[in-house]
Amino acid sequence: MATSTPRLKRISRPALKFSMLVVDQMAEDYPNSTFVGIDIADMYPKTGDLPPNVRFLKANILEGLPFEDGKFDYVFQRFLIFDLSPGDWKVAIKELARLVKPGYVGS
Ligand SMILES: C[S@@+](CC[C@H](N)C(=O)[O-])C[C@H]1O[C@@H](n2cnc3c(N)ncnc32)[C@H](O)[C@@H]1O
Repeated sequence: MATSTPRLKRISRPALKFSMLVVDQMAEDYPNSTFVGIDIADMYPKTGDLPPNVRFLKANILEGLPFEDGKFDYVFQRFLIFDLSPGDWKVAIKELARLVKPGYVGS
């Protein structure tokens, strides 16, 4: 089924493009949901380049993310394995679990 959600534009780096395509596809598949991407680096397109239901935020998961408990229905992370120490993982998983609504999904 087609939606009117615009695709992302002007993405150049291959790794970033792959990452963005995941969010872009989810935003298109679920146009009534809002998606928030987090990265410690300020590396993502700004609002004007994004579908209306996507935004990105520069934040460090180890310092806590600026959302109240249970804010999200679904929390997803990948590839942080290359950046976090075993001790960091305890902090990161706890933070991700804090953000997902009780009974909802994290992967
Ligand atoms: C391998 S890249 C994955 C990029 C993209 N999220 C994806 O799924 O393809 C790992 C990303 O984690 C980010 N990162 C590392 N430590 C972080 C932290 N403490 N908090 C938030 N992001 C972090 C890095 O800046 C990097 O962009």
